[in-house]
Amino acid sequence: MSAEESHHGAEIAARVERRWATIAVIIIVMMALLAAFAGIHRVTMPQPRVETTDPSRLHLSGEFVEANLGSALEPNGAVTVRAIGQQYSFTPACILVPAETPITLRATSADVVHGILIQGTNINTMLVPGYVSEQLMRFERTGDYLMPCQEFCSFGHEGMWGKVRVIDKADFADRAKGDGRLSCVGQ
Ligand code: CUA
Repeated sequence: MSAEESHHGAEIAARVERRWATIAVIIIVMMALLAAFAGIHRVTMPQPRVETTDPSRLHLSGEFVEANLGSALEPNGAVTVRAIGQQYSFTPACILVPAETPITLRATSADVVHGILIQGTNINTMLVPGYVSEQLMRFERTGDYLMPCQEFCSFGHEGMWGKVRVIDKADFADRAKGDGRLSCVGQ
C-alpha cells in the first residue's frame, strides 16, 4: 500500500466516523426531546380524576370498611364491587357478580402495590396504596374466573389469588334482596 493510498483510506474512515457520530448525536437529541415531550405532555394532561384514600384507616371508616366490601346492587340495576388487596389476599377473596350487567370495580390496597387481573378478560388494574382504582367490567357468561395478583408484592405474592364468580342475573338479584354486600367467600 502506497502512502497516498493509506492517506485516502484514512480520509474515508474519518468520513464514515463523522457520519456515524452525527447519527448518534441525532438519536440522543431525539431521545431527549421524546423524554421532555412525554414529561411535559403528562403534566399538561393529568388523569381526569384521582381519588385518594388513607391506607392506614381503610378498616376504620369510609367506603372500604369491611361491612361495605363485596358486591352491591345499585338502584339502577348496575353493580358496584368494592375490594381491598393486602399481603397476601384479596377481600373478598371471591367476588360474586351477575352476568350481562355493567359492573364497577372499586379497589385499593391496604399496604403495598398489588394488582388485579381477571383471567380470560382484559380486566387488569394496579392497586396502589392511597389511591382508588376504578375499572368498568361486564361478563356475558356465567362461571368462575381466576383473579391472581399481578404485581410482585413480596414473598407471598405467588400465593395471592382471588376468584370472580359470575352467576345468573336473576339469581344475583334474588340474593341481593337484603342490603348486605354479596360475595362468594366460603361458598
Ligand atoms: Cu399482591 Cu402480588
